[in-house]
Amino acid sequence: MDKIILDVDTGVDDALAILMAVESGQLEIAGITAVNGNVPLEQVMVNSKKVLQLAGRSDIPVYRGAGQPLLKGAFHEFGVHGDDGIGGSLQNIVPRVEDPVLFAPDFMIEQAKKFPGELTLIMVGPLTNLALALRKEPTLPQLVKQVVVMGGLVSESGRGNTLPTSEFNIFADAEAAKIVFHSGMPIKLVSLDVTMKTFLTKEHIEQLQGSLYYDFVMKSTEVYRKYSMDNYGQNGCALHDPLTVGVVLDPSLVKTAKYFVDIETKSELSYGQTICDFLHLWKKEPNIEVCLAVDADRFTTLFLDTLKKQL
Ligand code: BDR
Ligand code: CA
Repeated sequence: MDKIILDVDTGVDDALAILMAVESGQLEIAGITAVNGNVPLEQVMVNSKKVLQLAGRSDIPVYRGAGQPLLKGAFHEFGVHGDDGIGGSLQNIVPRVEDPVLFAPDFMIEQAKKFPGELTLIMVGPLTNLALALRKEPTLPQLVKQVVVMGGLVSESGRGNTLPTSEFNIFADAEAAKIVFHSGMPIKLVSLDVTMKTFLTKEHIEQLQGSLYYDFVMKSTEVYRKYSMDNYGQNGCALHDPLTVGVVLDPSLVKTAKYFVDIETKSELSYGQTICDFLHLWKKEPNIEVCLAVDADRFTTLFLDTLKKQL
C-alpha cells in the first residue's frame, strides 16, 4: 500500500480525486492537506470534509494549509467549479469533525521524517504548501518517495486553461511551483497534455446509477460540464485531479520521459508557463518526469469502476 498525502484545493475534480483515492483500497491516506486555489481556503476545508463524510471516511484528517499564494494575490476558479467549489452539491452535509492544529506544510514534514522514503505526495492544487515545507525543511527532497503533480502544459503551448501558455495550478502560484521544480524532488508531472484527453460525460456518469456517488457526481459536475462545452466544445469535463491519483495507482496508464522543465515567473504574457526543454538546449539535468501520453479509455474505466460503490 502506498502511503500518501493528498494536497487539494477542492474543487469539483479535487473532490472526485479524493473519492478515487479513498475508494481505491490501494492507498494509505495519512491525511489531506488543503490549500487556497479553486476557492478560498476555508471553503476548501469545508468541501474536503464534506466529501470525506459522504464517503464515510471522516477519520481522515484535513490539515489547513496556505490561505494565500507566496507572493501574489489569491486567484479563484468559480466559473469552472461553481460559487461553493463543488457545483452546489452536498448542501445537506454539515462537517462534524474538528480540524487538526498542525499547519499542512508541517504535517508534510512530520510524515516524511516519520516514514523516510515511503511517502508519496499527490499535489492537485497550487504548490504553495509544498514550497513552504521545502523552505522550512531543505532535506525534504531526500525523505519523500515521489511527488506527483497535476499542473502545467508542455507540448500544447497556446492551449492553457488560464493564460494561453499557463495552467491554473501553476499560474495560481508560479513562485511556489518554481521552488518545487528546482528542489531536486522526484517529480512526475501530470499536465494538461494528458489530463485534457480524459473526460467524463453525462453518459459515463449514468453508469454510476445505483451507486453511493451517483447523485454527487451528476450534480457536482453540472456547472463544470457546461463550462467545458461552452469553452472547449467538449462533451464532458476533464478529469485532471482524478488522473493524477490514477497515475499513482497504475503508472502504466501514462507514457513518460524526463526533461528539464522550468517555470516562467516574470513575464506578463506567460506568467506560470511550464517551459520544457525537449531539445536539451539549456544543457541542464532533467528534473521532471513528464507524462506525454495517456490511455484515456482505460483510465475512465478505472475511475468509474472505483466509484461504483453500492448504496
Ligand atoms: C487544475 O486546476 C483546477 O481548476 C483543477 O482542480 C485542477 O487541479 C486544472 O488546471
Ligand atoms: Ca485541483
